[in-house]
Amino acid sequence: MRILFLTHAFNSLTQRLFVELQEQGHEVSVEFDIHDEVSLQAVELYKPDLIIAPFLKRAIPEQLWCKHVCLVVHPGVRGDRGPSALDWAILNREQRWGVTVLQANAEMDAGDIWAFNEFRMRDDTKASLYRNEVTQAAVDAVLKAVQRYQGGEFRPQPLDYSDSEIHGQLRPLLQQSERAIDWQRDDTQTVLTKIRSADGFPGVRDQLYGRELFLYDSHAESKLTGEPGAVIARCGGAICRATVDGAVWIGHLRDKQAAHPFKLPASMLLENEITDTPEIEPGPDSGYRDIWYEERGDVGYLHFPFYNGAMGTEQCVRLRQKYREACQRDTKVIVLIGGPNYWSNGMHLNLIEAAESPADESWRNINAMDDLALEIINTQSHLTVAAMQGNAGAGGVFLARSCDEVWARSGVILNPHYKDMGNLYGSEYWSYLLPRYVGEESAEWITQARLPISTTEAQQLGLVNGVFERSVDGFVSETKLRATALADAAAYAARLNSKARSRATDEAHKPLQNYRDEELENMWLNFYGFDPSYHVARYNFVYKIPKSRTPMTIARHRRITENLRRVS
Ligand code: COA
Repeated sequence: MRILFLTHAFNSLTQRLFVELQEQGHEVSVEFDIHDEVSLQAVELYKPDLIIAPFLKRAIPEQLWCKHVCLVVHPGVRGDRGPSALDWAILNREQRWGVTVLQANAEMDAGDIWAFNEFRMRDDTKASLYRNEVTQAAVDAVLKAVQRYQGGEFRPQPLDYSDSEIHGQLRPLLQQSERAIDWQRDDTQTVLTKIRSADGFPGVRDQLYGRELFLYDSHAESKLTGEPGAVIARCGGAICRATVDGAVWIGHLRDKQAAHPFKLPASMLLENEITDTPEIEPGPDSGYRDIWYEERGDVGYLHFPFYNGAMGTEQCVRLRQKYREACQRDTKVIVLIGGPNYWSNGMHLNLIEAAESPADESWRNINAMDDLALEIINTQSHLTVAAMQGNAGAGGVFLARSCDEVWARSGVILNPHYKDMGNLYGSEYWSYLLPRYVGEESAEWITQARLPISTTEAQQLGLVNGVFERSVDGFVSETKLRATALADAAAYAARLNSKARSRATDEAHKPLQNYRDEELENMWLNFYGFDPSYHVARYNFVYKIPKSRTPMTIARHRRITENLRRVS
């Protein structure tokens, strides 16, 4: 079928549906829901068999749903309605939640139900639940709905609140007052739940040092205590605030009134206020850890659950140091296991935007990423594995490919390209790694197409070596089994030798330094040259400026007209 996505943005859920439906043989084109006229024009141009709205913030125009079947993906159980579905589910500590695919009509979220799916809730942030459970449930429900639509026999179920199976209800937009933290009364779990219900957006509004701040990235502290509400410690980028029964770490803050009104590490935003606050070292049961090493038998695991997968200069330097230490251990395999939500999304664009000279900080950051990638590529003492529990984008994908093996959780989405960030050339030795693993032709296509890639396709291309398990827990357990098997394999020594030989051959053919120089020459132009596209694109990304038009790479219907015009 020919399917048109009408969506607020090409976010992770939309990307996943995009690749899954194409793998089922459908043709998919995307239009951003910018204006009714534009949406109507998209339908006119594409003449879709079906319209799907994976992520909408406004109602679908009546002219559309009157004439076409429009399926809306709602991140709530049947009967749930309103714009804050997942926020309420977290705040109300629902045990089960779901996704409903319903047909758009005059009433928001009240149309006939084509499919639904439910899942057990996990104690985590809204963004994490959205990228994991909600996305998987949405994929299953949308595929079911599309199949039913295509079959032609299925009659969608009208929403009937008298049905005992319907548990949802209409809920309003969740206001800040509903999740405001009362530091004198709320226990640790309540504070965590409130912050998690608003993370990544909009954050929980709070007062600290006379400033209005939005809180994100919260974790329980198990040892420290203090005066409820007081900032009692700092650790890396995070601050620790006492609650009535313990304390919580807050990793990121946003101050709408500040010179840089976007999310930044908490200790950076409060640098003037917390000069006397004691700094503690992170440990297994206390503090805010963004990098740690774990060893099991012959395998070392490096965890780096950086918030939003963004890797700043200092984080790259620390990770490289930890990696070097891991290489000194008497083990055989090192697994770079990232974090449960992301493996890596490349350079830290927020920190770059906040720097005194974004160009200089971009330069420092990319060099630190390159140093890390180089260390991994040149490792002769161990076999290395990148194990992707979550999505990876831009330089993050190529950093993963610097390992000998890349394993990915089934359903992870990869965006192995840089150009969407203002024509950024990219580094991380991608110009060596990509052709080496996928071949020249696919490398050319991947970089130019700028499309999200599924794990199935990534494996076919050679970008990924192993794809398994849908759940994060299942993936981590299976990774541990496979890494142990890799270390124990009879062919381990031969593999290590052959890796050293092929590295030497490649180095003789063209030294890594040459790849780096060529990439960085182009990056230098991106950062310091006359074309400001990268700086503009980064600003728009960090400030979340909505796109004014759908990129041609995904608006297939607009490409067709261009072609027709050219022919006539
Ligand atoms: N630096 C800082 N923040 C980043 C980031 C980066 N490199 N990549 C993603 N984020 C943040 C987003 O701002 C967003 O923040 P929020 O919590 O305020 O919503 C969050 O991570 C999730 O990103 P989002 O874009 O909403 O996720 P997505 O799944 O829709 O898209 C990507 C994934 C990777 C395509 C997209 O995030 C992206 O293009 N990132 C930038 C990649 C890049 O160009 N890196 C620099 C070159 S190496």
